[in-house]
Formats: sequence, C-alpha cells, structure tokens
Amino acid sequence: MVTWREEAKRKAALAAVQHVKDDFVVGLGSGSTAAYVIEEIGRLIREDGIHVLGVPSSSQAMMVAVHSGVPLTTLDEHPVIDLDIDGADEVDGKLDMIKGGGGALTREKIVAHAAKQVVIVGDETKLVEKLGAFKVPVEALPFAFATVKAEIKKLGGKPFLRESKGKVGAVVTDNGNYILDVDFGFISDAEELNRQLKLVPGVIETGLFVRLADVVYLAKPDGIIKLEK
Ligand code: A5P
Repeated sequence: MVTWREEAKRKAALAAVQHVKDDFVVGLGSGSTAAYVIEEIGRLIREDGIHVLGVPSSSQAMMVAVHSGVPLTTLDEHPVIDLDIDGADEVDGKLDMIKGGGGALTREKIVAHAAKQVVIVGDETKLVEKLGAFKVPVEALPFAFATVKAEIKKLGGKPFLRESKGKVGAVVTDNGNYILDVDFGFISDAEELNRQLKLVPGVIETGLFVRLADVVYLAKPDGIIKLEK
C-alpha cells in the first residue's frame, strides 16, 4: 500500500521537476524524495525528448540516474549548473535546512552551491518552526574523529557516531569519512553554528544549509506548500 507520505513526496517531486528546462545541467539530490525527482527527469528524457545532464550528489543518486536513463556529467565539466533539486530533513520558514540524513551532505552542499537555483522537495513533516529536533549531521575526517567530537562538546553539542545498519562499525561516507549526528537542541542561529563547526579542524562539512534554498515544495494529502526566498 502506498502511504500518504510516499504520495506527497512524489507530488512534491513532480512540482519541482517543472523547473527543469531543455538543455539544463541539473544537480541530482539524494534520498527517497530526490529519487522520485530523478525518475521523473528520466521519464521526460524518454518520453518528451528533452536534453538534460545530471550531476549526482551521491552514489545513490548516481545509481538512480543510471537506472532512470539520466545521462551524467561532473562538476569538472560544469562547475556552474542550472538547477539543483534535493530533499531535506528539516526546513524552517526562512528556508534554512538540516540535511544529511542519508549521509550525502558534503556533496549535496557542493552541488547546491554550484547551482543557479536550488529547489527542495519533501512532505509537510519536514517543515519546522525551529531547526534542531533532527540531529545535525557533521562529516568528519576519521583521523580527527575524537578531536572533532571533543570540540563539538565544547560548542554545546552531544555528538553520536553514526553506526552502519548493514555492517558492523561506523557509516563511511562516499568521501571515506565518518558522520557525527549532533544534538544541539533547538538552534537559534544556524549560520553562526555552521561557521563555528566549520572552524574545527577535521570537520569536512555540516548538514546546516543556510540561505541555499530558493524554492521549497512540501506536499501534504490535500495540496502542496510552496515557500520562496
Ligand atoms: C541525504 O543526505 C539527505 O540530505 C536527504 O536529502 C534527506 O535526508 C531527505 O531524504 P528523504 O527525502 O528520504 O526524506
């Protein structure tokens, strides 16, 4: 049985794909909602004959793209891309976000940053008044794991190493790093917290996405919430 959340994710994905135009280079986000986006882009390529190249933000996005018939390119060939469509774990009214539930935060942020327009998709449960109920993913170099953990505690966070479900030990990202999921409680200044975290040697990236989203589609059973910058 298809749940309302799955239907909502698909609805948001279809709304977002309307931003895709012929000859666009598109950033392909990660996660279950972004997968619907990639599949729909594949359908447009197959059935409407549009030309699109995708820049995948993770190995998962790459595999979905290959399976959906979306031709791929790289940031080396296209350091500026037309559009990025991605999911989120939390979005607030200012369009700031927490991302990285799927562990792809670093490449997702790089791809979003390279895009002229960033469109975010999800179901309505992603909309929050204040960021922070979802723990902030922080990607850290394994060599610096213990020192990063100690510094995060000094910043008031409670870090938890993300453990793999399919194998023993830590989750290893597409970049060969670890992820610390950090409980900071509700976050009053995401930009400042992001800045502080990025000053810690060994922190590769954080899941705080500040002022990166341009448009957000969050679908619910009876419609769709559209937020714009
Ligand atoms: C991947 O690292 C994340 O940033 C995802 O975009 C986020 O977790 C949303 O995933 P879902 O669409 O599966 O909820």
